[in-house]
Amino acid sequence: MVSEIVDTTDEWITSRTGIKTRYVSTTETLLDLAVEASKKALASAGIESKDLDMIICSTIKGDYVTPSMACLIQRDIEAKCPSFDFNAACSGFVYGLDMADAYIRAGKAETILLVSAEAMTRHIDWTDRATCVLFGDGAGAVVLKKGDGLRSIKITAKGDDKLLVIGSVFSPSPFAKQPQIDPAFRMNGGEVFKFAVSSVIKDVKQVMKEAGVEAKDIAMMVPHQANLRVFQAARDKLGFTDEQIANGIDHYGNTSSASIPLLLDELMEQGRLVKGDLIVLTAFGGGLTTGACVIKL
Ligand code: ACO
Repeated sequence: MVSEIVDTTDEWITSRTGIKTRYVSTTETLLDLAVEASKKALASAGIESKDLDMIICSTIKGDYVTPSMACLIQRDIEAKCPSFDFNAACSGFVYGLDMADAYIRAGKAETILLVSAEAMTRHIDWTDRATCVLFGDGAGAVVLKKGDGLRSIKITAKGDDKLLVIGSVFSPSPFAKQPQIDPAFRMNGGEVFKFAVSSVIKDVKQVMKEAGVEAKDIAMMVPHQANLRVFQAARDKLGFTDEQIANGIDHYGNTSSASIPLLLDELMEQGRLVKGDLIVLTAFGGGLTTGACVIKL
């Protein structure tokens, strides 16, 4: 119980964020989660690892600085393709879709495994009640192939290290004069909240317009799971009903870039999303980055 660690209550967390439970890795490495998600994605797509042309992994920070998570996933699933990580924080899954689309359109890859793997609870200051109650660990993966499913996509960045930051710890050096950086997650929650709501509204309106679709055509909007109140604040401006907005924050917490693929998997398994459905994805987070897209499943 987090209320035994910091001065908080279940009532505060639920009413301010929508979070009820989340998962914290205790013995598992992030690679364990990523490999399990990758194997599940390959099995559900009916693709063998030898047929992958590329593995892209979005992560704020993997188990190592190097080798990348993607290289170790490649080893563990016995693939042979080029593999790399990138960091677009919570927008990583949408950034990854955009990147994979570019490789596939350019004819440089036909089949790509996109993995989002995040161990956010490693980066938390467990004495800071404003942030330690928010995050969970998780990994999700998808297999992407050439097709016309991606109807529109946008990604953005607005460089900022004041509103949301996780510092890096470096090895001590006899030459370094820079002060040691605070390695914990720090966030100005109120300002990031405003940024999140305005970005979701702007990005989703734009991708729906570009795709030529309206809210009534969308089976479900699957937003990055940061705070239930973010999507509630955006809902009316976008013309969605509560039933059209996917919610996994109650049981996963904020798992950064893993939140969208985790939820997509759950919705597909439950039959709440089926082939042919039109969906909207929208994400925002550290960087500051944002991304949104319309996809026909
Ligand atoms: N338990 C009890 N009280 C708390 C807690 C807690 N866990 N945390 C803060 N409080 C208190 C504060 O001290 C404050 O008390 P005061 O009024 O006496 O000063 C009060 O609750 C209100 O605090 P706020 O920070 O104003 O609370 P808010 O309603 O803004 O909720 C939250 C905070 C949940 C962080 C919200 O601002 C938020 O979700 N922001 C956006 C987060 C986000 O979208 N992040 C982007 C993705 S993360 C990534 O990129 C990795």
